[in-house]
Amino acid sequence: MSNQKPQIIHLPKFLDLRGNLSFFETDNQIPFPIKRTYLIYDVPGGETRGGHAFKEQKEFIVALSGSFDVEVSYQNGDKEVFSLNRSYFGLYIPNLLWRQMQNFSTNSVCLVASSTLFQPEDYIRDFSEFTLNF
Ligand code: TYD
Repeated sequence: MSNQKPQIIHLPKFLDLRGNLSFFETDNQIPFPIKRTYLIYDVPGGETRGGHAFKEQKEFIVALSGSFDVEVSYQNGDKEVFSLNRSYFGLYIPNLLWRQMQNFSTNSVCLVASSTLFQPEDYIRDFSEFTLNF
């Protein structure tokens, strides 16, 4: 069972007339070593992504552009929704939480930094299996 909660993490922000800059680093802003980064983009209106949990993978999700919601479900069935709409903050999601990305705005870009390489066997795709051990 997960004993950690998702958490919004605010990133350092360097405001500049030339354009702003934010960053995140392993062990400083992000509480896990980053092994992989992937992007979700060109999401058609009304589509959802995710809709599963990970046994091991922890992740940090940022709306690089546009906006979308991340709906997180706990093993006891409780849900929480986080709206991501700026490049200077993101959502940390520990392992063993079910998450789904939804309500993507036009041209939104979702960046996911992950604690693991891609491992199909790490996915829990069956919600009843996810809640089973509660
Ligand atoms: P998937 O994680 O199932 O997408 P979603 O979370 O929206 O359901 O990934 C979709 C496809 O992309 C699937 O065939 C696996 C592949 N994929 C990789 O090859 N590497 C990756 O790092 C990720 C995240 C997915």
